[in-house]
Amino acid sequence: MAVRNLTVMPTTRATTEEDRPGKPSGNRSAVRSLLRLWPYVRPVRARLFSAAFVAVVASCVGLVIPLVLKWLVDGPVAERDPAGVWLGALYLLLLGLAEALLFGLRRWLVARPLAGVEAAMRADLYRRLQRLPVAFHDRWPSGQLLSRGTGDLMLLRMFLAFPLTFLLVNAVTILVGVIIMLVQDWTLGLVILGPAVPVLVVCVVFERRYAHAARRAQDQVGDLTTVVEESVLGIRIIKGFGRHRSQARAFRELSRTLRGTELYKARLLATIWAAMMTLPEVAIGTALVLGAVRVADGDLSAGTLVAFLSTALALRWPVDSIGFLLALSQEAATATERYFEVMDAEPESTALSGSADGDDRGLRFHGVTFRYPDAPPGSPPVLDRVDLHVRPGESMALVGATGSGKTTLTALVPRLHEVTSGRITLDGVDITAMSREELRGRVAVAFEEPTLFSATVGENVLMGAADGAGDAELDRALAVAQADFVGALPQGVDTQVGEQGLSLSGGQRQRLALARAVVGRPRFLVLDDPLSALDVHTEAAVEAALRQVLADTTALIVAHRPSTVLLADRVALLSGGRITAVGTHHELLRGNAEYARLMSGEEEDGR
Ligand SMILES: Nc1ncnc2c1ncn2[C@@H]1O[C@H](COP(=O)(O)OP(=O)(O)OP(=O)(O)O)[C@@H](O)[C@H]1O
Ligand SMILES: [Mg+2]
Repeated sequence: MAVRNLTVMPTTRATTEEDRPGKPSGNRSAVRSLLRLWPYVRPVRARLFSAAFVAVVASCVGLVIPLVLKWLVDGPVAERDPAGVWLGALYLLLLGLAEALLFGLRRWLVARPLAGVEAAMRADLYRRLQRLPVAFHDRWPSGQLLSRGTGDLMLLRMFLAFPLTFLLVNAVTILVGVIIMLVQDWTLGLVILGPAVPVLVVCVVFERRYAHAARRAQDQVGDLTTVVEESVLGIRIIKGFGRHRSQARAFRELSRTLRGTELYKARLLATIWAAMMTLPEVAIGTALVLGAVRVADGDLSAGTLVAFLSTALALRWPVDSIGFLLALSQEAATATERYFEVMDAEPESTALSGSADGDDRGLRFHGVTFRYPDAPPGSPPVLDRVDLHVRPGESMALVGATGSGKTTLTALVPRLHEVTSGRITLDGVDITAMSREELRGRVAVAFEEPTLFSATVGENVLMGAADGAGDAELDRALAVAQADFVGALPQGVDTQVGEQGLSLSGGQRQRLALARAVVGRPRFLVLDDPLSALDVHTEAAVEAALRQVLADTTALIVAHRPSTVLLADRVALLSGGRITAVGTHHELLRGNAEYARLMSGEEEDGR
């Protein structure tokens, strides 16, 4: 993994809009995107609707306050009645209290269910990521997936908690407020309504631009996450090659781009904010002057003007916040799209049709052709009509020059990739006709790059066994893999191995991966160069132990060294995408020049 990271430096990896997996489609509607959240929101809809209702009530309670003020000014204040003034003050206090309590109730109603919605969506995303084929993961940078599982989901929860409710609440509040103002005095009301049209226009224009900027920003966060993740995983390579400067430059460039996008978003927000603050402000000022003149002339009561202006002021927040709420909704729509890009990706296909044919036992490749889905069109396939039969109980070594497609061929057996044409059978049953569980229960694999998880040694190895496998199996597997170093670890098999098992040596990791492959006593064993990191003596010891396991297992073993090849009953030579020779090691050494060269050249190229 780390080596690949160096060859694919993040500067070239930073995806552009064009080649990004699942790039955004040009015309899409925010509402339509957000509606896709409904299945997740459905279970908490009752709470969400009651919360919205409570918020509407709370907001309307706030609008009663100006009416009480009017009564206070025109009544007790005008008549100089202290008792009445106190009573009015008490009403105002109670109304304010009720408003605050109701908003508190709303928050209480939504907090817990929405955390549940976020958790459910995250669990679904994780499940989907596990089920997506290897080809998907080859294509998608991990940071893009990480950022979807964290940042985007948080945006969605915030959206459901806040903008969703308040867009509704504010709309209702503004409507009720405007009606109240028109009823108080319709001329002043029209003055206040004046700026509505320009504000709406600004909103629509802004919404479109903001949507694009939001999408760009969220994708750039994904790219940035990828760089950070690769730098952390590849820290040894980066330090070893002194690449921290170029890595830092890549990071700086991406974060500068992101900063640019965020600033652009801020400028857009500032524009709309300016429009939404200034225009209503001017309207309120105008209404104040006009109203004051009319109160002086005696054709408007002071109380009405007070009520009118305080209603207008009460509407200030709902109006001002709309820009901000729309911005949040846009970001949520983008996050929803990004989320569903992953959820909509095709998972590994399930069983197709297929049947056992006759006495076709063992592991068999029938005219298998394979081409990587992202290979350039027109390029030759990696595997070209491969026919290979590993008889039951037999171990077959697979030999070929580097890059000849050995790893690719082994990955087809557990269906990490799907064959382009042809088929693979296990004991005569097409692997596409089995369920994934069944297939992966029969076939055990160990790859070139031994990956260990952040867990104990024992847990890492037992991952290869059926549930309920115990210490006996664990010990046997460790013995086969000659992993006696485990005994010397601080807590033996209970020792935690770090992220990707970095605290173990390469050979130690390989032996644990091998133990994982053999622990479940699989019927079919596929080993991709499993002993490459071992010294000659350890290799010989592993081979001796492995020979016993291989006695009753059908195995396909990728090998580079004659010593590993000798483990196998027969050898197949992969060359130019085809199996060009099959036979015993000695037969091929004598009869096949390419094979002889591969086997004898080993010392020269350092294998
Ligand atoms: N995920 C991938 N997407 C596209 N092409 C790939 C992918 N993985 C490998 N290839 C290409 O397929 C070809 C065969 O690769 P493969 O890893 O199977 O070789 P190999 O025989 O295992 O080599 P080695 O002996 O070095 O392990 C190579 O040309 C490689 O570039
Ligand atoms: Mg390989």
